[in-house]
Amino acid sequence: MKNIILTADRPTGKLHVGHYVGSLRERLRLQNEGDYDKLFVMIADAQALTDNAGNPVKVRNNIIEVMLDYLAVGLDPNKTIFFIQSDIKALSELTMYYMNLVTLPRLLRNPTVKAETKLRGFDHEKGLPVGFATYPISQAADITAFKANIVPVGEDQLPMIEQAREIVKSFNNLYAETLVLPEALLPTNKACLRLPGTDGKNKMSKSLGNCIYLSDEKEVVAEKIKNMYTDPTHIKISDPGHIEGNVVFTYLDAFCKDEHFKKYLNEYKNLDELKEHYKLGGLGDMKIKKFLNQVLEEILFPIREKRKEYAKNIPYILDILRKGNKIANEAADKTLKEVKNAMGISYFDDQFLNEQKEKYEN
Ligand code: TRP
Repeated sequence: MKNIILTADRPTGKLHVGHYVGSLRERLRLQNEGDYDKLFVMIADAQALTDNAGNPVKVRNNIIEVMLDYLAVGLDPNKTIFFIQSDIKALSELTMYYMNLVTLPRLLRNPTVKAETKLRGFDHEKGLPVGFATYPISQAADITAFKANIVPVGEDQLPMIEQAREIVKSFNNLYAETLVLPEALLPTNKACLRLPGTDGKNKMSKSLGNCIYLSDEKEVVAEKIKNMYTDPTHIKISDPGHIEGNVVFTYLDAFCKDEHFKKYLNEYKNLDELKEHYKLGGLGDMKIKKFLNQVLEEILFPIREKRKEYAKNIPYILDILRKGNKIANEAADKTLKEVKNAMGISYFDDQFLNEQKEKYEN
């Protein structure tokens, strides 16, 4: 069997460089290698609503933003199927049946849900929306509906894939071998697993204002890099510097290649040499920031330009989604049918008819 790849993003904001190295770049590689039957990219609007019920406008407004980011980085509608979660009705039905296979304590133990619960301030007073607490189950539906075996995600999504695997195993065990066991696919470069925000805080997040967006203008990117957190003990250029926790170096780890040195900073052969000099002292932050800016600009410039082009043709984007939704609905409906068959709750087939006839007519 060839691979079926599925991945998704919540449309709660524009995508940033953390998304790029954490997941988009991986999807692009898979897309361009072409070793798959189907590659699905879903806009998870229903999941976004699980913690944005009071702000559907935010979700609505980010559908096109996220699509523009996808197309701008090079995801290609001729190779990738884009669709919107809320349009795929089979997902809700699958979720309903999977809910019976997961216990409440198991759900609440999910480390990602736990961390996000804290982050969103769902405390005793505010309460935890049931839809939010159960979103790992609906995510299992997202994955299994399309029989995805490969799910490229960021590191924070590993507990979701684990939970989906548990659901698959218990479904197949209880009823019949129906669902496909998914595997998470993470970027191999460690710096890409969890790219920090420009302030050095753990994660990029819109509310912390520490993101570099794929759509940021050149001047905005330059300003963000200028203010980037480095090493607070590296005060004079001659002071020895630290690499650990230094955001500029983490970004260079994630983005730069040896050829960037040839092009922009040829007194060093590679990143190791640059790091050595920084640690010894005598290398200023201005210089490494300028280099990072050049490296990032090389990546972001074409993305930004393409994004502007696609933004001129919104009907084309809606058309892509309309077509994708159709394909996604067909695939998910087919799985739902199989699921209901396996559970024995398809009532309008010959088997049921014959069974019941036998029971009542004899
Ligand atoms: N939870 C994912 C995120 O926040 C989005 C998502 C929804 C997803 N459904 C999915 C990712 C299915 C992979 C597969 O980024």
